Amino acid sequence: MLYGRIVGWGKAVPDNILTNFDLEKLVDTSDEWIFTRSGIRERRIAPEGVNTSTLSVEASQAALEKAGLIAADLDLIIVATSSPDHLLPAVSSEIQYQLGANCGAFTLVAGCTGFAYALVTAQQFIATGAYRTILVIGAEVISRNIDWTDRNTCVLFGDGAGAVIVQACEEPTGVLSFELGSDGEGAPHLMIPLGIANPPTREALDKKYQYIHMNGREVFKFATRTLARSAAETIGRSGLSIHDIDLMIPHQANARIIELAARQLGLPMEKVFVNIDKYGNTSAASIPIALTEAIEEGRVKEGDKLVLVGFGAGLTWASAVVQFGLAEKPVATGWLATPTRTVKAAQNKIGVAARTAGMRASLMLVPLYTRVSRKQRKEANSNNQQPK
Ligand code: COA
Repeated sequence: MLYGRIVGWGKAVPDNILTNFDLEKLVDTSDEWIFTRSGIRERRIAPEGVNTSTLSVEASQAALEKAGLIAADLDLIIVATSSPDHLLPAVSSEIQYQLGANCGAFTLVAGCTGFAYALVTAQQFIATGAYRTILVIGAEVISRNIDWTDRNTCVLFGDGAGAVIVQACEEPTGVLSFELGSDGEGAPHLMIPLGIANPPTREALDKKYQYIHMNGREVFKFATRTLARSAAETIGRSGLSIHDIDLMIPHQANARIIELAARQLGLPMEKVFVNIDKYGNTSAASIPIALTEAIEEGRVKEGDKLVLVGFGAGLTWASAVVQFGLAEKPVATGWLATPTRTVKAAQNKIGVAARTAGMRASLMLVPLYTRVSRKQRKEANSNNQQPK
């Protein structure tokens, strides 16, 4: 059995900050209402020209750099999003092209739960031995699907992207257990109605079908029913207990939902990562952004056991117990004890240099080919023949 070790992580958020005070000027709301009900102070909004692919590429490049890898090393790209650049093609292919990767890529839609679904999916490809190095992205420019006159929704969401790289490893690490769930009966509670069932007619646009429609109270009830239960179920499946969990990284939708889940689980808030105050609900991007920040802030250490748990449109939910890292075995002992990862990074650098040198060499041959074909053309002309 192979495991998917997290070897790289990265995030990207737009520079543009929209505070609760800015929102007070747009709709009938207040900083006090938004913060006490949701825990949000501000969120990032992508400007025109910055799309889900833009943020994904930035987050992925950071993750690749952290892993000491290049895009050419990727065997697969899985993107979780509900706000792709276009309906077709899948944004995963646009990201694969922009990264310069040469591998399969697909997009997975499970609302805000998407990243947890994608990470678990990546683990399956690794466990079967099909692929060794997989880029998993959660990314959204969900602000384009927000009705900025609807105070029920516009105060909650924000844009961003997070990415991790998982790599095959023989040590038990990465996703140790998981639960994926879906209850489509709750679909109307959180949806963007525009689509094949509701094409973009004048009537559909007048009804604002292109925007998020949400029954906040129902989603709240669903989340508080689901989050702690799913996390507890998955922790149980891993054979661990709640006391073994070093950090819970929940989907950042509402600080009250997170606090309630922690209380239900008996987990102190010091063991729960919350950054919703800075970014709002970035949907599928929220868990990988939070994971990246938790690692960067030193809240996650080598060998730590994390529980990732999300919920969202569908209605869906997913949780996973994830062991972070675990150093790979060194390739040699004594003075040769260089970690395999460093060797791999060096090999990658050599690979890039070799590929670049190869490209340069073939470019240098271009004039030669041209000269040969000119010579052939001249001979052909003098013989009144077509060049071969
Ligand atoms: N500013 C001020 N008042 C607002 C408001 C805003 N931005 N949005 C709603 N209100 C009003 C409502 O109109 C309502 O007024 P009323 O009592 O006169 O009808 C009042 O505030 C209370 O509304 P309610 O829906 O009961 O508030 P709440 O405590 O449930 O909090 C949410 C609302 C949306 C913050 C909360 O329900 C929530 O977080 N739900 C989950 C949403 C979610 O996570 N979605 C994404 C899932 S991935």
